Amino acid sequence: MEIIHSPQEMTAWANRTRAAGQRIALVPTMGAFHEVHLRLMRTAAGHADRVVVSLFVNPIQFGPQEDFDRYPRDLARDAALAANVKVDILFAPSPQQMYPQGSGTTTKVVVSGLTDTLCGRSRPGHFDGVTTVVAKLFNIVKPNLAIFGRKDFQQLAVIGKMVRDLNWDIEIVGHPIVREADGLAMSSRNAYLTDTERQSGLALSKGMQQARQRVRAGVTSAGQLIEETEKILLGHPGVAIDYVNIVHRLTLLDQTEINRDSVLLVAARVGTTRLIDNTVLFDEQ
Ligand code: PAF
Repeated sequence: MEIIHSPQEMTAWANRTRAAGQRIALVPTMGAFHEVHLRLMRTAAGHADRVVVSLFVNPIQFGPQEDFDRYPRDLARDAALAANVKVDILFAPSPQQMYPQGSGTTTKVVVSGLTDTLCGRSRPGHFDGVTTVVAKLFNIVKPNLAIFGRKDFQQLAVIGKMVRDLNWDIEIVGHPIVREADGLAMSSRNAYLTDTERQSGLALSKGMQQARQRVRAGVTSAGQLIEETEKILLGHPGVAIDYVNIVHRLTLLDQTEINRDSVLLVAARVGTTRLIDNTVLFDEQ
């Protein structure tokens, strides 16, 4: 595996690779690799000839009160983990290389419609930061396909819309949520949880599980299911709900009746850590 820091060198590699007729898969990440990242990388290898993993803690997607400064950064550890999976290139640019004129004045890619709801409500500007950096990564790495985890369901929907709206010839693949043995959706941020908070954090996956059971038992009212999910969350100490919504999987618009397109999305704070989880309500994830 090669580590490339310069966007220009990355694009030169991508041009050579595509000219040789090879397909490139991109796994965009912010590092702090755990099992989910490694699974995304393995899946990418199954979809393309060459795999590029980008590692960049993107300053413009963090709000002023968020964890940009304390976000874990360990390039040597991440490189060792990626090297054990079939990754060809670890693309790890610096903030100066990604935003040479400074990130505050950069041109933004803004996806309208899907970004001011759900997580967008409590994280203003977050998705503009994500779509801007992902657009830059797409232009630098020139992938044929890119893989994103479904845990960040809204992010996946927003990126899908960006690609469709801007006519990018890039396939967007959503990777199923990966869970710990006890059900907690895997996330880099789980490392912030104390043992007690981690127990409370299980409220989210318990809520997802119960909601699927209730739908199987015949519940079709979104309002009822939301109320029941909130009850589970609030039954765990230290859990503060940000939102519990049932939306259409593509439009992210609230639904009143559950159908095959329904997704239940939850965000909650446990201590100072914000956790998210989601589930489709009919099929197993
Ligand atoms: O999901 C993430 O880790 C980030 O939002 C992404 C897609 C790598 C963009 O910085």
